[in-house]
Amino acid sequence: MKTLIIGATGQLGSRLVQKRNEFITQNEIKAFVRPSSDYKKLNCQPSELVFGDLTDKQSLIDACAGIDTVIATATLVFPRVKDCFELDERAGYQNLIEACELCGVKQIIFISIAVPMTTHFTRHSKTYELKKWCEELLISSSVSHTIIRCPLFMDDYFALIGSEIPLAGEKLATVNRSKGITKLLRSFVRRSIEKYGLAWIPGNAHKRQAFIAVEDIAKYCIRVTQKPEFYNRVLTIGGPEDLSWHDVCEVYSELLARKVRPVTLPAPVLFLLSKLTRPFSTVLANQLSILWIIASKECVREAYWDQTLPMVEMLTAKHYLAHKFQRAKVSK
Ligand SMILES: NC(=O)c1ccc[n+]([C@@H]2O[C@H](COP(=O)([O-])OP(=O)(O)OC[C@H]3O[C@@H](n4cnc5c(N)ncnc54)[C@H](OP(=O)(O)O)[C@@H]3O)[C@@H](O)[C@H]2O)c1
Repeated sequence: MKTLIIGATGQLGSRLVQKRNEFITQNEIKAFVRPSSDYKKLNCQPSELVFGDLTDKQSLIDACAGIDTVIATATLVFPRVKDCFELDERAGYQNLIEACELCGVKQIIFISIAVPMTTHFTRHSKTYELKKWCEELLISSSVSHTIIRCPLFMDDYFALIGSEIPLAGEKLATVNRSKGITKLLRSFVRRSIEKYGLAWIPGNAHKRQAFIAVEDIAKYCIRVTQKPEFYNRVLTIGGPEDLSWHDVCEVYSELLARKVRPVTLPAPVLFLLSKLTRPFSTVLANQLSILWIIASKECVREAYWDQTLPMVEMLTAKHYLAHKFQRAKVSK
């Protein structure tokens, strides 16, 4: 059995590569990377790397030959190079699905988003628009698909609100991909939880989310790989608990033995900033639109959780952050 990981130098893709031995026995992993990707950090054997680009259909056809499952995690939310949503994500995923059809790939696992993709959100966020479009394209294709809709990643959002703790020991963290204006904005809040006890929250701090660790999403991907009972299904997953941002601040307060307070970034302000920045930076406008959606909509377990999913023992926010905190102390 062979599994091709698209987006292998990303946060989730690289975790899947690290967990190569947890797939079913006799599964061979191939990491699809661009020549410009930071692929040396993957510690892959040269035989495990496949070079190509979503924008290059022939490279996808070559990569998909003899592959059983493709796990598609690529996204443009934090691009490292000058990427374009229409070219890399829309045309790119179309190329990928066509290559899978042509090569007789048995299953595509596509990582999507758990918040309902209503027009209200898709017309203002490129990421949401393209996730919806890609889900529809996959469902109408002839390849068996497993769509995994995920809530917010702890690895990203516990860092983006103002902490470096989630980044401890991570070589390919998404947040560290920020560049340009996004990097500048990030530098203002980088360690504000550790330094000032302030967490920058999108929207009302009472809003809850079913935060999940990337480690657990990787486990789900592995559980559904090459399992026909999960073919042609949309699975919505959530973390182990629904937490408000206040709860997240409490976890940080306990960990750092200091009071951590939320500073609210109101939803209308995030929406306005997204509109104002669009003519100058589609990337920043998209990131702000995602924050606006998070500020506007709760994504909780009880509403979306698919009870038919295989069980995975999941990390709570407390365990996740305590583990990262230890790692950060050791690496100092
Ligand atoms: N963060 C969240 O809270 C959240 C929530 C729900 C769902 N998701 C989804 O989870 C998935 C995994 O996210 P992540 O955090 O692992 O993403 P990430 O760290 O930003 O990684 C993105 C990956 O996509 C690759 N890529 C981009 N354009 C490409 C192209 N044209 N050709 C080939 N590869 C390309 C990048 O390669 P380079 O290194 O070469 O740039 C990188 O490996 C995404 O689909 C995301 O939308 C995330």
